[in-house]
Amino acid sequence: MTTFTNYPILVTGASTGIGHHLTHYLAARGHPVYATARKPQDLEMLAKIEMVTPIELDVRNPTHVQRALTLVTERGQGLYGLVNNAGLGELGLCVTWTDEELINLFDINVFGPHRMTNAFVRLLIEAQGRIINIGSQGGMITSKYYGPYTMTKHALEAYTQALHLELEPYGVWVSVVQPGGIVTNAGQNASSGTLAKIQRATPPFKDEADQILEAFQQPSVPQPDAPESATNRKPSSPEIVSRAVYEALFSPTPKIRYLVGTHWEGNRVLHALIEKLLDENDNPMHNYSRDQLIALLDEHLGQRQTP
Ligand SMILES: NC(=O)c1ccc[n+]([C@@H]2O[C@H](COP(=O)([O-])OP(=O)(O)OC[C@H]3O[C@@H](n4cnc5c(N)ncnc54)[C@H](OP(=O)(O)O)[C@@H]3O)[C@@H](O)[C@H]2O)c1
Repeated sequence: MTTFTNYPILVTGASTGIGHHLTHYLAARGHPVYATARKPQDLEMLAKIEMVTPIELDVRNPTHVQRALTLVTERGQGLYGLVNNAGLGELGLCVTWTDEELINLFDINVFGPHRMTNAFVRLLIEAQGRIINIGSQGGMITSKYYGPYTMTKHALEAYTQALHLELEPYGVWVSVVQPGGIVTNAGQNASSGTLAKIQRATPPFKDEADQILEAFQQPSVPQPDAPESATNRKPSSPEIVSRAVYEALFSPTPKIRYLVGTHWEGNRVLHALIEKLLDENDNPMHNYSRDQLIALLDEHLGQRQTP
């Protein structure tokens, strides 16, 4: 792959986890990085990294977003990449979430990327640049207790796809990177919100919430020698996310979706998608036979192989 230097990139949520790793990863490869954070100590820490300009930014705050745009514009180097990484991962039974909590989650995980994109889109068109949304495998699948979080990541999938179609004619490529479990502070950062939701459950959900609480407070001990399973997860390093983002930013033939994680996690997504496909096929209008389904799959595989 061609090495690109001096292609400025903005990363939201650079204080910890994936955003922090990515900031180092890009800066180490010669890219000026605008790294956003909310707390003064995080901004100070980011300022010490060579090639990094810290920006105070809460993605829910339109004034912060406009201020960031002014700063980047006045720097005069343009903007090649926008990585919408900032996110919150609180869990809990759907029925325990208040409207305000759900609105706040969407404000960060969905409206945040929308706000940032709208602010920076003209600079990105000028640079013929790229937008990378950090989604999740939870944008493709869901499970109990992950409802609201995966609702936001499903929304981000639709947003990415629509934006991709709308911006490609203007020279901007939009992708979503979909990590599985990654070793970060996400669980810890979301723990007080998650705990509050579990604790406020009332009958008939109380017994189940008590069991979740117990599992939450005494997580099962990982078995490194046993294969990965739903109860023995093997989260990956943020490095694999940074690599996928880099590929999405600089590959001459970028993809729209980058599924990132372990083999077990990838299998889980593919099985869930096949189940959804079979659900869709199970209706009077599209009840294709097994052979017809396989022919459809072959047709699409063939289209992808055509140069
Ligand atoms: N870790 C995983 O297993 C995993 C899996 C799939 C997808 N993801 C996605 O990856 C992204 C990064 O998550 P992470 O695992 O690195 O979590 P993390 O360590 O908790 O980092 C989240 C980042 O988002 C920032 N943030 C939160 N609310 C914000 C707001 N209102 N405005 C601006 N920044 C805000 C946090 O800043 P503060 O420090 O100021 O709170 C922090 O920098 C998220 O979009 C997450 O959904 C993570």
